[in-house]
Amino acid sequence: MITRSLSSAGPVVSSIGLGCMGMSDFYGTADESESIATIHAALDAGITLLDTGDYYAAGHNELLISRALRGRDRDGVAISVKFGLMRAPDGAVVGVDGRPPAVKNSLAYSLRRLGTDHVDVYRLGRLDPSVPIEETVGAIAEMVQAGFVRLIGLSEVGAATVRRAHAVHTIGDLQIEYSLLSRDIEAEILPTCRELGVGVTAYGVLSRGLLSGHWSRGRDVTQGDFRNTAPRFSGENLDRNLSLVDALRAVADAKSATVAQIAIAWVLHRGEDIVPLVGARRRDRLAEALGALEVRLSTDDLAAIERAVPPGAAAGSRYQEAQMAALDSERGKPAGS
Ligand SMILES: NC(=O)c1ccc[n+]([C@@H]2O[C@H](COP(=O)([O-])OP(=O)(O)OC[C@H]3O[C@@H](n4cnc5c(N)ncnc54)[C@H](OP(=O)(O)O)[C@@H]3O)[C@@H](O)[C@H]2O)c1
Repeated sequence: MITRSLSSAGPVVSSIGLGCMGMSDFYGTADESESIATIHAALDAGITLLDTGDYYAAGHNELLISRALRGRDRDGVAISVKFGLMRAPDGAVVGVDGRPPAVKNSLAYSLRRLGTDHVDVYRLGRLDPSVPIEETVGAIAEMVQAGFVRLIGLSEVGAATVRRAHAVHTIGDLQIEYSLLSRDIEAEILPTCRELGVGVTAYGVLSRGLLSGHWSRGRDVTQGDFRNTAPRFSGENLDRNLSLVDALRAVADAKSATVAQIAIAWVLHRGEDIVPLVGARRRDRLAEALGALEVRLSTDDLAAIERAVPPGAAAGSRYQEAQMAALDSERGKPAGS
């Protein structure tokens, strides 16, 4: 397995991480034993970064990871945990809490659910507009001092917030959506991270399955699946986006690769400081994703990919309007961009 440093100061992790969210939440029903088999297959293949959130099905995802890691080498795996989003019993997202006591309380529950004495990366899932980032990061820094957290991360925040947070304590990585269909970070956020030595953990590299080559208009989407209401999966936007996938498929065919492999390989080629997370929840999807590590893209290949999916070509925003408005990373941009 090829490795990358998660930030300029480490730790070294596999160049692809496994995002476990879809094994519990947001993408409809998942098969628990297949999820665990997928985590095992990932570890066996050399993946050493597992990403989760305490709010993924209200702790279910952490319990799942804990079960999967039983009998495995805990220290050989970096566990990255998000906190702060609050969920109601029906699954609704009902707010965000980045207050210092919430940081410590959430961490205590995560450690217990994960069955571990530390998490490797700890981050607020969404900026809490009522709590200065300095206070949230300050509280995580106390947890670093106490040995419960190794590295502080951020999620979906803009360049100014990255700077403010980094002034309080070294920030390891920023987790943010980045793919051929979501390239906004290239303007300001990515250069800021590079200037400060903050790594990027890219999520949505397959645009939540849209850019995988496995999505189609007729695909069955079960209740509770985020993609039921996601703008890029709706109406004419979907037709437009699937036509981009068709164009990318031609490039993939020429490389004897799949669409998903080209999409992941493209992110891998964007810089050594970017670690893509893949949201595989089945072993066959994981095997396909790992195949991206074998794909070498020449300058001509990269140009062909960008002709197929030019920057800004995606139809529809990545979240619904209200969710977009809550993203610090989107602040100051025109609506719908
Ligand atoms: N910080 C944040 O705000 C944030 C937000 C979202 C996610 N995340 C993290 O990032 C991780 C990845 O995000 P994501 O799941 O949205 O991204 P993704 O990898 O773009 O999308 C995953 C979806 O793609 C489909 N897919 C099709 N072929 C695949 C293949 N070969 N390998 C992997 N997936 C394939 C999956 O399939 P099926 O539907 O067939 O299973 C799944 O529905 C999450 O698990 C979570 O840990 C963070």
